[in-house]
Amino acid sequence: METTVYTVKPSKRILNLPKYIFAELDEWKEEAKNRGMELIDLGIGNPDGATPEPIVKAALESIQKPESHGYPSFRGKKEFREQISVWMKKRYDVDIDPKTEIQTLIGAKEGLANIAMAFTDPGDINIVPDPYYPVLSRGTWVAGGEVYHVPLTDENDYLPDLDSIPSDVAKRAKMFIINYPNNPTGATAPVEFLEKIVDFCRKYEILLVSDMAYGEVCYDNYRPTSIFKIRGAKEIAVEFHSFSKTFNMAGWRAGFVCGKKEFIDIIYAMKSNLDYGTSTIVQDACIAALNVDYKYVQAIMDKYNSRREITAKGFNKLGWTMKRSSATMYFWLKIPKGYTSKQWCKMVLDKTGVVFTPGIAFGDYSDDHFRVSIVQPTEKLKEAFRRLEDAGIRYE
Ligand SMILES: Cc1ncc(COP(=O)(O)O)c(C=O)c1O
Repeated sequence: METTVYTVKPSKRILNLPKYIFAELDEWKEEAKNRGMELIDLGIGNPDGATPEPIVKAALESIQKPESHGYPSFRGKKEFREQISVWMKKRYDVDIDPKTEIQTLIGAKEGLANIAMAFTDPGDINIVPDPYYPVLSRGTWVAGGEVYHVPLTDENDYLPDLDSIPSDVAKRAKMFIINYPNNPTGATAPVEFLEKIVDFCRKYEILLVSDMAYGEVCYDNYRPTSIFKIRGAKEIAVEFHSFSKTFNMAGWRAGFVCGKKEFIDIIYAMKSNLDYGTSTIVQDACIAALNVDYKYVQAIMDKYNSRREITAKGFNKLGWTMKRSSATMYFWLKIPKGYTSKQWCKMVLDKTGVVFTPGIAFGDYSDDHFRVSIVQPTEKLKEAFRRLEDAGIRYE
């Protein structure tokens, strides 16, 4: 184990963070490549397609305008916020005031980190279900807070059991951060659960943070419910959306958070002290995205959908059984007995060149699972299953 000797010691905040498993995964991939292995990467959730052409065109037009070259507006351009409001009404049937209830973001990840900093003092508790997308807990840790993890299991349909949370934890908690449709499990949240968690957060005066980065990555006519459809939610909740997966715009870095003015003003206060907001060129591209013909989004989701079929069949053939998820681009599967998630994923990578993410990357409760991202074309997916079969990789 390599230990770094620092010339200038970094803060405890950064030194105490657990190792980012995706960095370790990169090292494994590098090693395998150096051994001449051709990899099929189903590890990281990076969308593999191009951004739809009308969005790229809007960015090209914007970059040629001198008014795009200065610092952008902190909150987001008026037209951008107005289009977000129209889109939220059209897609989720909720009313969001473009003047006071929206803050645009340099991607949802940035906002989720900043909201933790903005609402957490050292010693505060935030509640995060486990498995979780890493920043959902790391934001709190960087802010000096503690995270209370509630396990998500196959038996509870990957919904946190609110009755299991001790009342002293609930009383101390500042934020409860949920993510449905869920990365990494693919789970979705029924309205009854959303009603329960809104009541819970209202009772204990906890800020409910709903991360809907996968709100549009849905199949079989499934549509997720915005938290703001739930009675009383506006008093206690904020909701994050992202352009990354919906419009294949992960590299552009754009998202937004909406909710009542009081909460949005705090996120604005945090961000305006730390950054200059989303580039005007990206904002103009996002306005085009929100207005793009839905066939472009549908084409992205149809592509994932055909990969889902191949992936489900492929794993079934190798002995895995799974509940069918209606959303996200992920499969969350059990590790065969006798391995930790890292040991198993490393063994599979070394034998086959197929890259999966060990469950432990998403939390301590998740070492018995691995995540598969369907971010490779169908031919590559088929090739991955051929290799797994040839190497005798099975669930038994
Ligand atoms: C659950 C979840 N939330 C947020 C994000 C980040 O989205 P963005 O690209 O908008 O920062 C991701 C990205 O993978 C995610 O999986």
